[in-house]
Amino acid sequence: MLDKLSKFFKAKVHTDEDKQAAAGVVPKHIGIIMDGNGRWAKNRGLSRSVGHRFGGEALRKITRAASELGVSYLTVYAFSTENWKRPADEVRAIMAIFLEFFARYREELRSMDCRVRFMGSRDNVPEDVLETIILAESESAERQGIQLIVAFNYGGRQEIVDAVKHAVETAGDGADFSHLDEESFRQFLYLPDVPDPDLIIRSSGEMRMSNFLIWEAAYSELWVTDVLWPDFAKEDLQRAISDYNSRNRRYGGV
Ligand code: FPP
Repeated sequence: MLDKLSKFFKAKVHTDEDKQAAAGVVPKHIGIIMDGNGRWAKNRGLSRSVGHRFGGEALRKITRAASELGVSYLTVYAFSTENWKRPADEVRAIMAIFLEFFARYREELRSMDCRVRFMGSRDNVPEDVLETIILAESESAERQGIQLIVAFNYGGRQEIVDAVKHAVETAGDGADFSHLDEESFRQFLYLPDVPDPDLIIRSSGEMRMSNFLIWEAAYSELWVTDVLWPDFAKEDLQRAISDYNSRNRRYGGV
């Protein structure tokens, strides 16, 4: 299996046959905690905002790489509910980079047949960012290629709290929740149709989840690299996938 994989990864062009040969080994859903933009910039004597700009560029390349490798869903942690605590000029810069990303790469995302979706709260999101979110989602809604899911103004615990509120509102007053189970609860999460991530990647060496996909990542495999996010390349994604293939997923069984 690993032989097949390394041949697949070395090939420049991936035919349907290549993809089929590697079928079952490329995770269907990968989540990425894109960490290390600030350190990357500091190492070069640059401002943190420049780090985020290069982080956006890495995101573009990795979306393409994941699409070429046959990944169906790529969820990236772009801005957490806690990130509002950062200095105002850094928050402003991240918002500006976000707007620029979806304007500049509009055609490129279309060329990948990429469906763009967002997960997170829409409260407190600036008007122009909200417009970009709505446009990117609506114009890509029918696309059949990779789904790029941007966790923006996202917190995993907040998602669970919102799901409880959503369940209570849907059921109405005096509803009986005694039959609620994991599967029926799932329909109240932000994106219930998206399968749980198989693999979560975190760049820049920190070994924590930072409130990312708390419910969905219960059985995900974790892969952490010291590479800082702006330097994260297709080869790193391939390394993560190869390592994923050496894991024995038991989901609590033996
Ligand atoms: C974490 O690095 C990164 C972020 C909080 C922002 C991520 C943003 C992007 C990759 C670019 C914009 C996103 C889109 C969707 C276009 P950090 O600042 O915490 O790095 P540090 O730990 O080294 O300080």
